[in-house]
Amino acid sequence: RSSKGEVWDEEMSSSMLGSRLRKVVQNYQAMNKYGVENTGPGGVASRPKLSGPELLCRLKSQVQVLTLTPDLQPFASLSWSSQLPVESVTSELGPYKRCAVVSSAGSLRNAGLGKEIDSHDAVLRFNAAPTSGYEKDVGSKTTIRLINSQVMASDDHRFLSSSLYSSGVLVGWDPAPFSANLSQWYNKTDYPIFAQYQRYRRLHPLQPFYIIHPRFEWQLWQQIQDSMAEPIQKNPPSSGLLGTVLMMSLCDVVHVYEFLPSRRKTELCHYYQRFYDAACTLGAYHPLLYEKNLVKRMNQGTDRDIHTHGRVTLPGFGSLNC
Ligand code: C5P
Repeated sequence: RSSKGEVWDEEMSSSMLGSRLRKVVQNYQAMNKYGVENTGPGGVASRPKLSGPELLCRLKSQVQVLTLTPDLQPFASLSWSSQLPVESVTSELGPYKRCAVVSSAGSLRNAGLGKEIDSHDAVLRFNAAPTSGYEKDVGSKTTIRLINSQVMASDDHRFLSSSLYSSGVLVGWDPAPFSANLSQWYNKTDYPIFAQYQRYRRLHPLQPFYIIHPRFEWQLWQQIQDSMAEPIQKNPPSSGLLGTVLMMSLCDVVHVYEFLPSRRKTELCHYYQRFYDAACTLGAYHPLLYEKNLVKRMNQGTDRDIHTHGRVTLPGFGSLNC
């Protein structure tokens, strides 16, 4: 049986969603919580569609993967700025040869991908995704963990005390207003990322911990919007895409697992929780549907890889000849 037609269709649009999810997406598209200004050229549909290699080169040239450093204002004037890493993440980590990005999707359940994932030189995981008890499916190596400010601030996740977060390199992020400078964001974060960062650093002073520069989030958002024929949610990209692009800047080649769902596609939200919602895979708050269209277009692996392993292959930016 052909696997085509069963893998992610890069032309997915919100019109293909169920009516409940479509309404949620429309609400987010209208809300514009972060004051996104429509910076793209007017007729989105008239722009020529870029090929995969062209898209990769656009990402490489237009999106700067950057983390906060103590020399940046307002941090330079704050007493705790010495807790921030001296250099941006791409100067201090890597380069790695082969990297794995492990989405937290429910379709990783019974995937049996643990050995394959652990064979990579570096493995990126997200938020509260555990390995303990799930080694057979998701592996046990964690090189980098990308966490959002909601997880950092929530009591449920016991961010400051849980051993889940205490190994590997941490990278935190929080959505900033679209046009805000760092000082404006500092006074208007979605969740108290900086208070939690300082507490965490005092408890774990030796563990590397970066914070994403919000310009990276919105530059990436702009690239998704510029590549789509319809307006996307005016909210930052999901951790999944942020982590994928972070790894593309650190690695020669990146395998992303179950971001584009395999034959195991399920409404189970996360492999580690009994919670079902199609929005986890198709997006509601995040422009996740469009992120997946973009990744499908850039994929250098086969549809068969997606179908059987939920695996996408992306080149690192350093391996591109643009
Ligand atoms: O839910 P969480 O943000 O922790 O999951 C990490 C990332 O994995 C998401 O940001 C999203 O990109 C991806 N994901 C997915 N499908 C799911 C669950 C997560 O694509 N069902």
